[in-house]
Amino acid sequence: MPTLTSIKKRPASRHLGRPTPELIFGDLWEFDPAPETADPRLKARYDLFIGGKFVAPSSGKYFDSINPANETKLAEIAHANAADVDAAYAAAKKAFDTTWGKMPGRERAKYLYRLARLLQDRAREFAVAETLDGGKPIKESRDFDVPMAAAHFFYHAGWADKLDYVAPGRSVAPLGVVGQVIPWNFPLLMLAWKIAPALAMGNTVVLKPAETTSVTALKFAELIQDAGLPPGVVNFVTGFGDTGAAVMGHPTAAKVAFTGSTEVGKIIMRSLAGTDKKMTMELGGKAANIVFDDAPIDQAVEGIINGIFFNQGHVCCAGSRLLVHEPIAERFLAKLKTRIKTLRVGDPIDKNTDIGAINSKEQLATITRLVGVGVKEGAVMFQPACKLPAKGYYFRPTVFSGVSMSHRVAREEIFGPVLSVLTFRTLDEAVEKANNTAYGLSAGVWTDKGSRILKMSTELKAGVVWANTYNKFDPTSPFGGYKESGFGREGGRQGLLDYCKLV
Ligand code: NAI
Ligand code: MG
Repeated sequence: MPTLTSIKKRPASRHLGRPTPELIFGDLWEFDPAPETADPRLKARYDLFIGGKFVAPSSGKYFDSINPANETKLAEIAHANAADVDAAYAAAKKAFDTTWGKMPGRERAKYLYRLARLLQDRAREFAVAETLDGGKPIKESRDFDVPMAAAHFFYHAGWADKLDYVAPGRSVAPLGVVGQVIPWNFPLLMLAWKIAPALAMGNTVVLKPAETTSVTALKFAELIQDAGLPPGVVNFVTGFGDTGAAVMGHPTAAKVAFTGSTEVGKIIMRSLAGTDKKMTMELGGKAANIVFDDAPIDQAVEGIINGIFFNQGHVCCAGSRLLVHEPIAERFLAKLKTRIKTLRVGDPIDKNTDIGAINSKEQLATITRLVGVGVKEGAVMFQPACKLPAKGYYFRPTVFSGVSMSHRVAREEIFGPVLSVLTFRTLDEAVEKANNTAYGLSAGVWTDKGSRILKMSTELKAGVVWANTYNKFDPTSPFGGYKESGFGREGGRQGLLDYCKLV
């Protein structure tokens, strides 16, 4: 909620003669700009990080990373080709054979702790860099992404000397070199999810960040140097899909881990069919948030808002479908709209911003196109009348009601701040509608009854089911999907099992 010092009242005259005197903060109050001011300490140009050093790409090619909030150039990023990926794998293989793979777990733990502490030391700087490069609100990167990334390194540091307990009754061994490709929605956090368990287990890594959000990975390379990790334990190759394909297809990779679109996940799986590489895939989602008539309504409204508008809906487990119990549907939707009118869309570096910038021009075009399909198919669209910045990639929070399961907005992943509302009469109908999707990453249930939560959590085909909350994460808790949302788990003991072989 706004504090008294951060808000100022508009002249009262603007509100005279309003027919509906609803109390709407966005209308009544204006916020003074409150930009986060920490220095992100960016370089003008970033090279590849191979064998513990920054090295120029063999092609000599660089591309621009843009700040999506204002379309200005942030830094130049190296474009790695197959020869660079080869060099990264050679460095990782050497590190695995000579240092990291042989090191006792208790020694590896020290490096992981060091990385976690170094990240905490520079947390504000990383949060600002993440927001400038990716467009997410600073309160997200500051309060969620960066602390959670550090937490993943702490958690896995704790495992590194206890690997005898990962698979009771069995011994575990590292796999070797792991190839990893990550998306742009949680650049630093996905890096932590990928690197921390791999290193704890004794593997070495070649990782490719997404082309629109490479900056925090390259800043993390500085931490790797500062932590004194043996050269080659972690290597970053930046670039586009061609670089990603080279990382996933490299013969040295004993395992590949991918997070991104279902489409690209399928391409990778097809290309690796017949090889003995281990694989984990974390792909798309179309989660249902299911609200029963006995739910705590105000908390549920907050949960729905957090589930889809948080991080501009750039979340694979976003609650992009709301299934609401018919008896309360009208009242719930009215409350939801009132709350949406108070959301602040704008400059992500501002501490008051709720919804920041869409990550790229391409993603904005995808969202705009799919919302157009929703309108064409006859769903009823609601958007608040908030002003959007003149420059940069922004999209208003959008709600579609009158949606049926055949509508594309109810079936396809939009990956933007767009909520589709459906109704149900019985629990069975809610389960049926929630499961009627190609995906199965997550779901939310809002009800007062514990027994109903337990029944729903067994019947919903989703890797995570949140009850009376949404988008809660913890390094101890495994995360991953069913069906076209992928396979394998990240986090917890189960996540470690995907980075080892049993001996
Ligand atoms: P994408 O799947 O193309 O990109 C994810 C990563 O894969 C990036 O690092 C990219 O460079 C890399 N990549 C692209 N082609 C590759 C290939 N052939 N082999 C190996 N790596 C490759 O996702 P994109 O195009 O950025 O977004 C499209 C849609 O995907 C979004 O609208 C959203 O619906 C979904 N998506 C889902 C994510 C999730 O967390 N599940 C994350 C990002 C996007
Ligand atoms: Mg960028």
